[in-house]
Amino acid sequence: MSPHQTADITQAVLDRLTPETDPRFREIITAVVKHVHALAREVDLKPDEWMRAIQFLTDVGHTCDEKRQEFILLSDTLGLSMLVVQLDQARRSKKALADKTAVTPATEATVQGPFYWEGAPVLELGSDIGRGMPGEPAHYSGRITDTHGRPIAGCCLDVWSGDGEGVYDMQMGGDAGMRLRARFHTDSEGRYHFWSIKPTFYPVPADGPVGDMLRAMGRHPNRPGHIHAMVYKDGYVPLTTHLFPADSPYLDSDAVFGVRDSLIVPYEKHAAGSKAPDGRVMDKPFHSARYDFVLAPA
Ligand code: BEZ
Ligand code: FE
Repeated sequence: MSPHQTADITQAVLDRLTPETDPRFREIITAVVKHVHALAREVDLKPDEWMRAIQFLTDVGHTCDEKRQEFILLSDTLGLSMLVVQLDQARRSKKALADKTAVTPATEATVQGPFYWEGAPVLELGSDIGRGMPGEPAHYSGRITDTHGRPIAGCCLDVWSGDGEGVYDMQMGGDAGMRLRARFHTDSEGRYHFWSIKPTFYPVPADGPVGDMLRAMGRHPNRPGHIHAMVYKDGYVPLTTHLFPADSPYLDSDAVFGVRDSLIVPYEKHAAGSKAPDGRVMDKPFHSARYDFVLAPA
């Protein structure tokens, strides 16, 4: 065999890594080379199929702009984003799990999604961030504690959701500004409460190459209704998660695999004229949802 010919092209690529290669990069790129070569061998990849894959990835890139990140959507819909979230939470929580004095595990994390907007207004507990927006009013309340059950006072709860039709402020067009999002801080006993709407299911953007991929896979693009929450305070492992109304469609088939049983919350329905948990008598029907968040010590 000529010295230029290699019996095992996989090993030949790996042999070109130099001793100066950053160790972590070496570990990752070695796995990438091994796995993509194994994939090509496993499916006996044909040249035209590989060209179609390259065209697909090119289209994914061309679909990205300041408002849309099709690569993240690709990662989300292939379950990779959620896998990375789970690996991260498992790594960060190892210490907390080893702590035998802990009384409760930290709240499960899930994907952040593309609609987080940093700098949401800081509002008083009890504020209504759903007023004037489509959707049924919902009262949210609960506590934020650590894994020892101790209340975390002054903990930030940064929440955001789509409206009652599944549309986020960022998708509203024009300059809708921030809607249905705010930061709240817990009181001295770790309690929070606010008003918003009961979120409804909605599709992830399906008019691009990822939508074509979902259709080719025979999959729908829908996510069950959810309200996003980022919970953080110095000294604790920050948490990015959602709460899902228990009666939402698509809990079993979330397009981005973000549902965890522990994040499914019953929304209690109340008739017009009922008293809300904050004492207000509501002139229209509303829902109430209670959820206690738990943060692991950092
Ligand atoms: C969302 O939760 O809004 C979302 C998450 C992943 C992909 C698309 C949307
Ligand atoms: Fe969302």
